[in-house]
Amino acid sequence: MTDFKKLSINTENNSFKYSILIGNNFIKTLKNNFSQILKGKKIYVIYDEFFYKLKLHKDLIENFNKLSKKLESEIFFFKIKSKDKFKNYEKLLILLNFILSKRINRDSIIISIGGGVTGDIVGFASSIVLRGVKYIHVPTTLLSQVDSSVGGKTGINTKYGKNLVGTFYQPEGVVIDTSFLKTLPKRELLAGFSEVIKYSFVSDKKFFNYLDKNYQNIKKLKSPYIENIIFKSCQIKAKIVSMDVKEAGIRALLNFGHTFAHAFENLANYDSKKLIHGEAVAIGMACAFKLSILMNLCPKKEAEKCLALISKFSLPTKLKDIKDMKFTPNELLSRFYLDKKVKNGKITLILSNGIGSASIKNNVDERSLKKFFNEIINE
Ligand SMILES: NC(=O)c1ccc[n+]([C@@H]2O[C@H](COP(=O)([O-])OP(=O)(O)OC[C@H]3O[C@@H](n4cnc5c(N)ncnc54)[C@H](O)[C@@H]3O)[C@@H](O)[C@H]2O)c1
Repeated sequence: MTDFKKLSINTENNSFKYSILIGNNFIKTLKNNFSQILKGKKIYVIYDEFFYKLKLHKDLIENFNKLSKKLESEIFFFKIKSKDKFKNYEKLLILLNFILSKRINRDSIIISIGGGVTGDIVGFASSIVLRGVKYIHVPTTLLSQVDSSVGGKTGINTKYGKNLVGTFYQPEGVVIDTSFLKTLPKRELLAGFSEVIKYSFVSDKKFFNYLDKNYQNIKKLKSPYIENIIFKSCQIKAKIVSMDVKEAGIRALLNFGHTFAHAFENLANYDSKKLIHGEAVAIGMACAFKLSILMNLCPKKEAEKCLALISKFSLPTKLKDIKDMKFTPNELLSRFYLDKKVKNGKITLILSNGIGSASIKNNVDERSLKKFFNEIINE
């Protein structure tokens, strides 16, 4: 009997294929599934600073040392500062210099172990060092387990905005260990549920009902609920990503609530005291539902059920839930034009057609949007 759940991610044209393994002992999962590619190689373990802060780094290093000894591999460790403000050129350069100073080869393996910040920067470094070396993701936040580790987007932030420099680069595999969630701060855990709920909103009514029925057990990280929802989230994302790797069409549905979210985060100056990404997405999705009702796209009753689910996961739904922030319609509108989905000067939004269904709308006019902003600012 296996002690993990396995999901295969495969594109329609077979341009890449790898597995996502979900369990609760990542070292064992690595050993049982990746020994062949790790054996005798140089392994670079790039780990999130939370291991150090929580005094877990010694165990981590010891476990990896044991593994590398068994596999006759050479192993190197590097700690990453995991705040979004450090996902930048400067830290990327330091990481690349470290990897190069240890004489990386084309057949070396990089293992990223941490949240989305660690995964994004390490994935990016792996894609450009020696024009690309193999890497494995071990995501440790809920958001990175259900979202950022799946789909191959890597990158860093620049002074012009978030995630503006990066690559699409797929890992050799993703190893999800749910026991990491036990040390995750509650706010980060709840924020991760935002993306989980999103998958149900845009593509799966049955999943919505599962979340609605079991949210209390899920929030308590009870087994098998937590494993089930991580598996389902990865499955939905993997399916959509496989159909549209470079976000030319259907993958944009995963952006539900995100145009709003990115505008709020930008106006809050990416200050995590005020707002973190998952919270911004929760408010963004609530706004998208409200606009969908207004545009007669989504039945009011269904939208209300969705808003209730966001609240059941203790996530915010209103702009006034963001501490010490005041928004104006003009500010919001200007941030909407920074969205990657803007085409020919037209704002494109992902809106809801009811639970489990969403669509891309590129005919949202500026005047009605401003009026709508006024409503959500004052509600
Ligand atoms: N590549 C993609 O497709 C994609 C998708 C969504 C988000 N992202 C990116 O992901 C990043 C956000 O990722 P995140 O939400 O995982 O946040 P994060 O990486 O900033 O981690 C949040 C905090 O939790 C700590 N942490 C991580 N794991 C922990 C654990 N198990 N126990 C205790 N503390 C832990 C980290 O050190 C950090 O302080 C952003 O940079 C965002 O742009 C990328």
